[in-house]
Amino acid sequence: MGKLSRAALIYIGAVVVTAVVLVARGPFTGLRWQYVVFLGILVIVSESRATQLRKGQLSWSSSSAAMLASVVLVGPVGASIVGACTALGVRRGPSILQRVFNTAMYALSAYLAGRVFLAFGGHVGLPDEKSFPAIIAPFAAAALVLVAANHGLLSGVLWLTRPRDRMSSGASGAGVGLSARLLLSDLGYAAYGLLMAALWSVVGFFAPLLVLIPLFVARWAVTQFAEQQKAYEATVGALCQAVETKDFYTRGHSDRVSRGSVMIAREIGMRGDRVEAIRYAGMLHDVGKLGVPTKVLQKTGKLTEEEYEAIQLHPMRGLDIVREIGFLDEALAGIMHHHERIDGRGYPMGLAGDEIPEFARVLAVADAFDSMTSTRSYRGARPVSEAIEELRKWSGTQFDPAFVDAFVAALKRHGWQLPEPPVIAADDLATVTAQDHDDPAAPIRVIDSR
Ligand SMILES: [Fe+2]
Repeated sequence: MGKLSRAALIYIGAVVVTAVVLVARGPFTGLRWQYVVFLGILVIVSESRATQLRKGQLSWSSSSAAMLASVVLVGPVGASIVGACTALGVRRGPSILQRVFNTAMYALSAYLAGRVFLAFGGHVGLPDEKSFPAIIAPFAAAALVLVAANHGLLSGVLWLTRPRDRMSSGASGAGVGLSARLLLSDLGYAAYGLLMAALWSVVGFFAPLLVLIPLFVARWAVTQFAEQQKAYEATVGALCQAVETKDFYTRGHSDRVSRGSVMIAREIGMRGDRVEAIRYAGMLHDVGKLGVPTKVLQKTGKLTEEEYEAIQLHPMRGLDIVREIGFLDEALAGIMHHHERIDGRGYPMGLAGDEIPEFARVLAVADAFDSMTSTRSYRGARPVSEAIEELRKWSGTQFDPAFVDAFVAALKRHGWQLPEPPVIAADDLATVTAQDHDDPAAPIRVIDSR
């Protein structure tokens, strides 16, 4: 949270005051403090070990299970005190204000969950055999309220503190997808709360250990996966950076081709893991330009046959560069064939129609579209409507009509954030591509040797 708006401060203040007032009202008599303390410690440990799946995203912790166990064992007031223990979590990053808000948010949601548990006929205390199945409905209602209140309150503060200039539809769409996944995983965790409370009557204070140890092991595996993802992102990012420092005018192109390809992939209902692979393919589709002599990329006049061949070789060079990167998998086919044409007149293999891998046919559409809507050294950016017209014109000869249609539909739904025209600083050492090989409206000029 940077400098906060008045609305954000009022919102945070209201959440904090509500939490304090509700908890302060008690009652505290009859509260089993030994449970509160023990479950509070569990929440502190869970929060201290929360896993951030991606930089800048929400963290993932198992504390909701402990809070829900406390709803059953110690009721709304005890549960809100347990929730407030998140304040003591040892975690780097959150500011004081974020901590205060998080504490109030967890206290408030645990309190509300506790109230709903009672309202649905739940009884506070150690559950036993006879408590089942009657306890399931009130517990499920409490779990739903805890998770919904957490996500609702958090979404509110994120919405009020979001950077105004970075709310592209794509980013917010991804945010909604992530929130839905977190919501589901939190609901899954909620079930462990009931398991913990039920086991308590049999094994006492060992119950949380029996429940949480497997959870911590599972989370360790997720952490490894998250670390691996970060390493993938860094690898792809470094290669992209290397390609784009070669040409000022194509900076950001890889990222936008990646974004466009993902839009098409989602529009046609591609499976999630393949969407992720095509994202990488978009980022790396032109990595082979590293193998094309800079003087060829910079040449303003007509190219010789040999020079044109050097450009046409870039998909193969790209494949050579990234072939050994295991996680790219299907992305490799996209990189190698992104300049094939449906009519068989593309390169490097001259494949036609369905012979061209699906990833390559998707990339070709996003690639040409971004090239046309970006500024080049020899022309300004063309408007989106003109670029769509051009895609339609070459649909069926250069591009797969199904993917042109999918892209146009996705553009209508999500829009497209056009890149800013580049401003070249005098001391910038980047070179400039004179003829863009991706631009279908301005084909590369080759010296006619006949
Ligand atoms: Fe290319």
